[in-house]
Amino acid sequence: MEPMIWRQAEQALAGLLAARFTKDIIRKAEERMRADVHGTLPRWISAWQRLPQTGSLDLEATRQTSAVVVSNAEPIDLEPLTRLLMEFHPWRKGPFEIFGTRIDTEWRSDWKWNRMAEKLEFRGKKILDVGCGNGYYGWKMLAEGADFVLGCDPFLLYVMQFEVFRKYAPQPHRHFVLPLGDTDLPDRMQCFDLCLSMGVLYHRSGPIDHLQKMHGTLKPGGQLLLETLVIESDQPAVLVPKGRYAKMRNVWFIPSVAMLEIWLERTGFEDIRILDVSTTTEEEQRRTPWMTFESLADFLDPQDPRKTVEGYPAPRRAMLLAVARK
Ligand SMILES: C[S@@+](CC[C@H](N)C(=O)[O-])C[C@H]1O[C@@H](n2cnc3c(N)ncnc32)[C@H](O)[C@@H]1O
Repeated sequence: MEPMIWRQAEQALAGLLAARFTKDIIRKAEERMRADVHGTLPRWISAWQRLPQTGSLDLEATRQTSAVVVSNAEPIDLEPLTRLLMEFHPWRKGPFEIFGTRIDTEWRSDWKWNRMAEKLEFRGKKILDVGCGNGYYGWKMLAEGADFVLGCDPFLLYVMQFEVFRKYAPQPHRHFVLPLGDTDLPDRMQCFDLCLSMGVLYHRSGPIDHLQKMHGTLKPGGQLLLETLVIESDQPAVLVPKGRYAKMRNVWFIPSVAMLEIWLERTGFEDIRILDVSTTTEEEQRRTPWMTFESLADFLDPQDPRKTVEGYPAPRRAMLLAVARK
């Protein structure tokens, strides 16, 4: 892959972050992406290099449809393209459309996008998306006029899926995904207008630490969009699964919305608004030819889909918007 990615990211971040923060996160990102650190990385890079060299990520088409769209004036041989894209299996977040091939991902992320997009303003904003997966929402936000989007996700496959699309993105690049987790981010960067934490909080054993970290990334008065699993209760309550939750090993705290509001207030947020609460359906998260592993239907009790296979309440998600106190 072009070694230039780090220099490009560094240059783009230079206008946004203090120099010491930029140096720190670029150094960490570079370390994580070393081929000798991750065994499958050379295979992904080789597939990335064999992708068509021309094409363009069409932000206008991306704005108008559910997918992130890459197109090309010349026709592309679709069979080898599909084989190359399958090197990056499993495709979880999307959909994407690349040279006419639709990547029908496990998640209809466009549904979550629709829930948030109508309630948020992205124009001119500098945005951080923590646990961004392959950057699907970043492209959508850029298409809605965001000034700059920095995503981070510790899972290298998702970073490589992002790179497939960045290859065709308009230059100079205004969207990067770095292979970092929340704890890798410097404390108190205080430079973003909007920070997204979607689908991450329940994976953290220290949810308060996570929220404090998110708070520190924001300018005073900046907004946090928090999306996470919740339980149904009017009271401040929290479920800590004894073992797995919906077959996931890494689920720690599933609060009620009332509990989430307290966590947000205690970590420096105000003007907390509940944007949405929805139960996840088997139409929104499902197995597809682009994600052939188990999906939601396999995680729910076949006799009673209101429960997970472990007997816990089935996944329900809340989306909250909060403002970092000045
Ligand atoms: C459920 S997915 C959500 C993806 C996307 N934000 C969305 O809402 O569709 C959780 C993502 O968080 C990432 N993740 C896990 N631990 C993380 C951490 N400590 N910091 C940042 N991201 C993390 C995972 O790799 C995964 O991509």
